[in-house]
Amino acid sequence: MRYGSRLIVQLDLLEYNYREIKKHFPDQQVLFMVKADAYGHGLVPISRFAHLELGIKEFGTASLGEALKLREELPKEAFDIYVFSDIQVDLELHRDVYLNRRIIPVLTNFNDLEIILNSSDFKYFPLCLKFNTGMNRLGFFYDKVQEVIDLLKKKGRHEIEHLMTHYSSSSLSMSGNKRNTEQAQRFQEIKEMITQQGITIKKTSIANSGSIEQNSGHSETHIRPGLIMYGPSSLLPKMREDSLVQTKVISQLESYVIDVFPITKGTPIGYGATPCPDNGQIVIMALGYGDGFSTNYQNVQFEINGVMGKIVGRVNMDMSQVLVPSDLKIKRGDPIIVWNHERDSLARFCEQTNTIPYEVLCRITPRVPRIYQLK
Ligand SMILES: Cc1ncc(COP(=O)(O)O)c(C=O)c1O
Repeated sequence: MRYGSRLIVQLDLLEYNYREIKKHFPDQQVLFMVKADAYGHGLVPISRFAHLELGIKEFGTASLGEALKLREELPKEAFDIYVFSDIQVDLELHRDVYLNRRIIPVLTNFNDLEIILNSSDFKYFPLCLKFNTGMNRLGFFYDKVQEVIDLLKKKGRHEIEHLMTHYSSSSLSMSGNKRNTEQAQRFQEIKEMITQQGITIKKTSIANSGSIEQNSGHSETHIRPGLIMYGPSSLLPKMREDSLVQTKVISQLESYVIDVFPITKGTPIGYGATPCPDNGQIVIMALGYGDGFSTNYQNVQFEINGVMGKIVGRVNMDMSQVLVPSDLKIKRGDPIIVWNHERDSLARFCEQTNTIPYEVLCRITPRVPRIYQLK
């Protein structure tokens, strides 16, 4: 476990983000995506706060293990937990867990649907179905709606608890991008076909962060935000200013100076002996790939004591080298903030890494303690 490096998670900013979103979606319930350890922020503390302080009643996980952990850590709380991807309802042990721990698998194919419909134990269990309207990942193909309806009717099921689909491209324009308009249109058609044939749908959802940021998703009972709740925008950089919700990044990645020394251009640095690109000082920072600070972060620049520092040489397991100007006053033990709560700070960092904020956040390993604060 790290001692000096840590991820500060400000829960009041989670509340701020939630309230910002709800201002624009007053009629929708939030199904909060907390998979992958709440996008790296800590599944249990984040969900506990979201439920007890914000009143969120539905949570989305990716795997049964995540869902079970949430249920076991917060056994008294009456919220619903959905499992979105590896549901494995073909395993009897898993089916028992769904039944006994009030965890809802999101069904996405006929094989799993038949298993549930054929089991008398699941006769009154809420059915949650996800359709593939163009994402082409998991989901009943949109042109198989009639087969789904026929199967439900044959098995005497006349109610769907939650009907969903998922956008593939909501970081692009919701109104101008053909894939988005097509997916939205197909979902409306699916809903109509199902209800017209006498099957009640209690809840529906389609909107993830990108669509929420574009004020899209109002035709449904629920929205399903993940990233935007944690602060970063999911939109392409050029669209971000127009984002409906100007959220704050709930995390701040903090580290400190293990050591600092002057260096001249060309001096080899660390593993692989990368020549230093300039004169200056090398700051040895207490974050490495063992903390999820990837070797891909070589050459990334970020602000350090008010000037730009650059990660030089290969990132090590336990530390990395940051080149800063010779005249910067910096000494052993000084704190370093890699990104702060302003959206631009994390966005600038992520853009240089050629990856997405989702990945940068999820990557932070358990070695980095998450420190929860309320201001
Ligand atoms: C089915 C589903 N719904 C909602 C989300 C939330 O997406 P985002 O984090 O972009 O809001 C995800 C995340 O991947 C998802 O898989």
